[in-house]
Amino acid sequence: MSDTENPLFKPEFPRSNSYDPQWMMDTQMGPNPVWLMEWLAEGMALREGMRVLDLGCGRAATSIFLAKEFGVQVWAADLWIGPDRNWQRAVDAGVENRVYPLRIEAHALPFAQGFFDAVLSVDAYQYFGTDELYLGYIAGFLREGGQIGAVVPGLAREIEEVPAHLCEPQSNGKVFWEDGCWSFKTRDFWQRLWKRSNAVRDVRTDSLPDGWRHWRDFERALEAAGKSIFPSDAEALDRDAGDTIDFVRMRAERSGAGSMNLYDSSLGVQVGVDS
Ligand SMILES: C[S@@+](CC[C@H](N)C(=O)[O-])C[C@H]1O[C@@H](n2cnc3c(N)ncnc32)[C@H](O)[C@@H]1O
Repeated sequence: MSDTENPLFKPEFPRSNSYDPQWMMDTQMGPNPVWLMEWLAEGMALREGMRVLDLGCGRAATSIFLAKEFGVQVWAADLWIGPDRNWQRAVDAGVENRVYPLRIEAHALPFAQGFFDAVLSVDAYQYFGTDELYLGYIAGFLREGGQIGAVVPGLAREIEEVPAHLCEPQSNGKVFWEDGCWSFKTRDFWQRLWKRSNAVRDVRTDSLPDGWRHWRDFERALEAAGKSIFPSDAEALDRDAGDTIDFVRMRAERSGAGSMNLYDSSLGVQVGVDS
């Protein structure tokens, strides 16, 4: 497919350009996760054979992308999406020897401590990672020096009130802002949250240049293809033009420090206060 025929062509995401745009639209659950994973992965050191957790992988497009692009082994882990169709997608993509789908809950992961070389997450970490305790918990599944990276929708600036253009109905009736959007945080928020944790070191955060534009363009492409899951948010994103809505990338590596698993339901018994 030539660049002009590809409705998702973006010079900023050269790896994604070689993926079938219909497949990307059929596997989406929000902003194009393949673009966002390409941005995240470019800032990490991924090598063939590494064990990678794709945390909150949704319909596993990002897991398939990681397996194909970097030859890594990917545990495609998600809460709302079961493993059966994700497995079929991995088989269809020819990466059944490197993508392992499973249903998980982010606070009750079934992996050994130190198992992963990298934990990556796109458009999911905001659902659980704003909790101060979470980074220490998830870092425990990385080997020392293992990498953690997440891309989340975020805020370009702190807000006390939601700007009117994000809470007024768009012409299709859809309102962009829901209470859940309060889990969108600024880059400074994530930087502070990760920097003060002893579980990780070498924390780096940044914002995706023109992130809002990419999100809007994807919404428009979905509309044009009749593949939106929900009514489009393109109009609100266009009105906002990056004043409020942003994408934030966080990266760090695991330090040697350990922390107690405070989500473990057997903790009371373990420490002798429930016996
Ligand atoms: C907006 S979807 C994005 C999915 C995928 N990463 C993508 O970008 O297409 C958010 C994902 O986060 C996952 N998620 C939310 N809360 C979770 C939790 N507590 N544990 C595991 N996954 C969770 C959901 O299952 C969902 O698939």
